[in-house]
Amino acid sequence: MRKKYALVGTGGRAEFFYGAIASQYQQYGQLVAFCDQNITRQQYANQLLEEKYNHPPVAIYHANQFEEMIKIEQPDIIIVTSIDRTHHTYIIKALELGCDVITEKPITVDVAKAKAIKAAVERTGGKVRVAFNYRYAPHNTKVRELISTGTIGQVFSVHFEWALDTQHGADYFRRWHRNKNNSGGLLVHKATHHFDLVNFWLGTQPETVYAAGGLRYYGKENAEQRGVEQFYHRAHGYPQAKSDPFALDLSSNPHLKAMYLDAEHEDGYYRDQSVFGDGINIEDTLAVIVTYQNQTVLTYSLNAYLPWEGFVIAFNGSQGRIELMVKEQSYINSGGEKKDEGKTEDIELKVLPMFGQPYQVKIDRIAGGHGGGDQLLLDDLFGPEAKDPFNRAATHIDGIQSIMTGVAGNLSLQTGQAVKISDLI
Ligand SMILES: NC(=O)c1ccc[n+]([C@@H]2O[C@H](COP(=O)([O-])OP(=O)(O)OC[C@H]3O[C@@H](n4cnc5c(N)ncnc54)[C@H](O)[C@@H]3O)[C@@H](O)[C@H]2O)c1
Repeated sequence: MRKKYALVGTGGRAEFFYGAIASQYQQYGQLVAFCDQNITRQQYANQLLEEKYNHPPVAIYHANQFEEMIKIEQPDIIIVTSIDRTHHTYIIKALELGCDVITEKPITVDVAKAKAIKAAVERTGGKVRVAFNYRYAPHNTKVRELISTGTIGQVFSVHFEWALDTQHGADYFRRWHRNKNNSGGLLVHKATHHFDLVNFWLGTQPETVYAAGGLRYYGKENAEQRGVEQFYHRAHGYPQAKSDPFALDLSSNPHLKAMYLDAEHEDGYYRDQSVFGDGINIEDTLAVIVTYQNQTVLTYSLNAYLPWEGFVIAFNGSQGRIELMVKEQSYINSGGEKKDEGKTEDIELKVLPMFGQPYQVKIDRIAGGHGGGDQLLLDDLFGPEAKDPFNRAATHIDGIQSIMTGVAGNLSLQTGQAVKISDLI
């Protein structure tokens, strides 16, 4: 029997899921409905379904008809790709109405919402999966394999630097993510991936978190201090934006225009705000120290305005060191232009035994976003059931554990003190 899916939140990320169900995975699943607070955006999703996937349009429902949608369409699984602060609402309602859930990361943005999700899973017996695509990237899976098979012995420390570039990094400062209430800031919204990877790689949980950082590059005040004098609210309709390399021109990209510019009259969602505007309350520069239950220590940093995108990580163990460097090439500007389309990612994975010769580890190259992780995740979500030796399917518990480092980090930023995760839960 084909599973029935309905999706809530028909923005940039949604097509990754509905496009897959409507094409590659049709024999296993059926898309039955969309739901969003914006009807124009849903109509555009239906247009894409017809034009790109040769799939008939599905029923559309306003966000306030979510429960009605479930009652009428009877989906088995709800896919949640709405903005982060709304995830918990849809996850909990879907579970209560008898559906399972696939949610985008972060599962949610704070402790109260995380507790409510956990309680709903326990109350209903439903299942929640978090779409952690990075776990499936072959280089990341390989690291888990190397560590779990004892290649470098016991891991004592990890040094992890994540770089977001001036295209992708900037995108979090143009729209809803720039408000911490919506996204939890980058320590939650973005670093949920990274802290999940550390939990997944090491098979342990975070204990204490100390974070420092702030908004140092984006935002009006920082730009003023660098001598910028011309400001604008949003790129569309403001000639000043023409000279700003950070400006996003929605009207020049038919996809972004249809998805956002043509839909904004309904909800006032401006996708192209100036990254040098007022009212940004998330950080762009972050350093975090984390201790883990198994006594590993992590030093982590995230910067959102760098000349390249990707990460560098080193694991130091009792029998050697693992180094991984990944330059990402495939960022998709919310379904818009693909940056450096066609280029594969630049990946180097090295093992340095304590006394032996260092050697490179071969990685299987798979096409697609996030180092090929996106395609493997889709297979696992929508393909035939298969046993995964790496146990990559992430549960609500994994989702919650991954945000706790960032949630504790946010508190540490406020108080200047280290935060024990057990004090929060
Ligand atoms: N794993 C990844 O690689 C990845 C990549 C991109 C985005 N994401 C996640 O996907 C989600 C969506 O991100 P996006 O880039 O598509 O954002 P987006 O702004 O393009 O889309 C968000 C959608 O949510 C809708 N929405 C807002 N409030 C709503 C409400 N109350 N009820 C229903 N719908 C509402 C908006 O109208 C919009 O259509 C986020 O949680 C994000 O973290 C994950």
